[in-house]
Amino acid sequence: MSEKHPVDPAFAARAHIRKDDYERMYAESVGNPEGFWKEASKRLDWIVPPSKIKDVSFAADDLHIRWYEDGVLNVSANCLDRHLEKRGDKTAIIFEGDDPGESRHISYRELHGEVCKFANTLKNLGVVKGDRVIVYLPMIPEAAVAMLACARIGAIHSVVFGGFSPDSLAGRIADSAAKLVITADEGCRGGKKIPLKANVDESLTRAGTNSVETVVVVRRTGGAIPMQSPRDRWYHTLMEGQSAECAPEPMNAEDPLFTLYTSGSTGKPKGVLHTSGGYLVYTSMTHELIFDVREDDVYWCTADVGWITGHSYVVYGPLANGATVVMFDGVPNYPDFSRFWQVVDKHKVTLFYTAPTAIRALMREGEEPVKKTSRASLRLLGTVGEPINPEAWNWYWRVVGGERCPIVDTWWQTETGGILITPLPGAIDTKPGSATLPFFGITPAIVDTEGKVQEGPCSGNLVITDSWPGQMRTVYGDHARFIETYFKTYPGSYFTGDGARRDEDGYYWITGRVDDVINVSGHRIGTAEVESALVAHPKVAEAAVVGCVHEIKGQGIYAFVTLTAGVVGDDALRKELIAGVRKEIGPIAAPDYLQWAPGLPKTRSGKIMRRILRKIAENQPDQLGDISTLADPSVVKNLVDERLIK
Ligand code: PRX
Repeated sequence: MSEKHPVDPAFAARAHIRKDDYERMYAESVGNPEGFWKEASKRLDWIVPPSKIKDVSFAADDLHIRWYEDGVLNVSANCLDRHLEKRGDKTAIIFEGDDPGESRHISYRELHGEVCKFANTLKNLGVVKGDRVIVYLPMIPEAAVAMLACARIGAIHSVVFGGFSPDSLAGRIADSAAKLVITADEGCRGGKKIPLKANVDESLTRAGTNSVETVVVVRRTGGAIPMQSPRDRWYHTLMEGQSAECAPEPMNAEDPLFTLYTSGSTGKPKGVLHTSGGYLVYTSMTHELIFDVREDDVYWCTADVGWITGHSYVVYGPLANGATVVMFDGVPNYPDFSRFWQVVDKHKVTLFYTAPTAIRALMREGEEPVKKTSRASLRLLGTVGEPINPEAWNWYWRVVGGERCPIVDTWWQTETGGILITPLPGAIDTKPGSATLPFFGITPAIVDTEGKVQEGPCSGNLVITDSWPGQMRTVYGDHARFIETYFKTYPGSYFTGDGARRDEDGYYWITGRVDDVINVSGHRIGTAEVESALVAHPKVAEAAVVGCVHEIKGQGIYAFVTLTAGVVGDDALRKELIAGVRKEIGPIAAPDYLQWAPGLPKTRSGKIMRRILRKIAENQPDQLGDISTLADPSVVKNLVDERLIK
């Protein structure tokens, strides 16, 4: 049993939520959700305040999720306009570039002006409420400007991570039938250039749709890029002479705010759709209470806006709260392994939120790069994206936080919009490796494979039995898939796809995905996507992909590949196949291990037995279980003998 870290009384004394508040408010939130979430909605400025709070059914044949359905608001006005009177000169965004010499402060007033100008630009380009806009940008302020400008006019943004390949981008453009793409000439990360505009050009020739009318290009590096007239337009030219006022579009609480594509067990990535009112209530409230945000905090979440963490906890939650947010366009190891802590000292960061994979990578470099910085400004640390191993937790606590800063290990998903299970730093004692207890209004349960709810300490699959305002509403363009994926496995509950254990204190320990999703450095990769990228090569007959243990990434990608008859697997081909996946999906999906498989373990009906492959990839050949039902049990011996991790 790992040691418990009690809440620091000095921290609790000033915290928004203390232990008895948590207990009282949690009971209230699940006992009377309507009342609790009605009160919570008052944290936003509504054009028409909602009178209907919650209308939800998780029944697969009557699925609907509606929050604040008669409320009217504008998300960008809540993130900007309402702060102007008191916080107009307060810094909204501190931008820190890849190059340590580059940083600037943008006030709420300036950000408001930029967003209005870009909203007017979008309107001039013919973008109207409901249109889809793809944002494919580095971590520069223009990314937040683009998102908020869409929100201002009611366009639905879909941010695509700059590390995704032209093919992945093309898939998202086609699925969303986007009207406009905003990108930059190039990105710059760790001193290396990323050809964003060239990727857009390539993706548009592949997307198989001609929905995109305009490509807006931000000049970031000044690198030479082809501009295709009249489609491609420079951001800075378009912004010239635009008015810095743009009336926010009144939006219904249930109007879509954005879609964000994420990988699932099967098929292509799905467009997770979030709406306006409930999402903003939930992200702003969780941000304020979980990070215990105060007016003078400097808050830094290292996630890229291409992921949900960047949406909810770089842009929407913090800006709705009028916080000062650091936006970082660099990487933890450039120019050296001290970078995070140098940025903390430079901007006097008080609240710091990152991923376990980054902590592990930094831990490997030893304490010196951390200890040579002060970090005296820090008062709270957070993690997200994957289970954090207690060793990394302890290092974060001891070396980074100097045993002064509470750690919030926040469990959530793209689908959940905001954090669901987490410590509240002034209220909940922590245990390294546990996300602890549910946030207000969240009702987790652990079920066995038959769907029976387990009581007390137990382990099984994690479901949430009732809705919360930040929950996704549908899969863009495929509502049937939404119901199928999340509400059919355990009728009446939302299925998270995660396994979990609950201990004797009721604390949750997330054990990882129980479906065919691999969590690589906190990023979700569907095994089916990697397999289809591999079999696209003419020499590949078949491929099966599973997760394996990876010291830094948490999980790595392990591929078993069967070549077509007569082809011999060698190192050159292995490299070629891995490069093919990088090109097709992006570097994050590149297999760490690729083993030649003369045959794959299959049932008599032809289904690949991944359970067996997982055990081989995890170097547990003595735990393969029953293999007698395989069509050809003899294939297993070869795979075990030739395994790459021993
Ligand atoms: O397996 C869980 C893991 O990340 C998955 C969600 O991934 P994604 O939608 O990309 O969102 C990541 C950022 C919210 C979950 O199903 N996960 C996320 N946070 C944690 C976690 N696993 C354990 N502990 C966490 N704190």
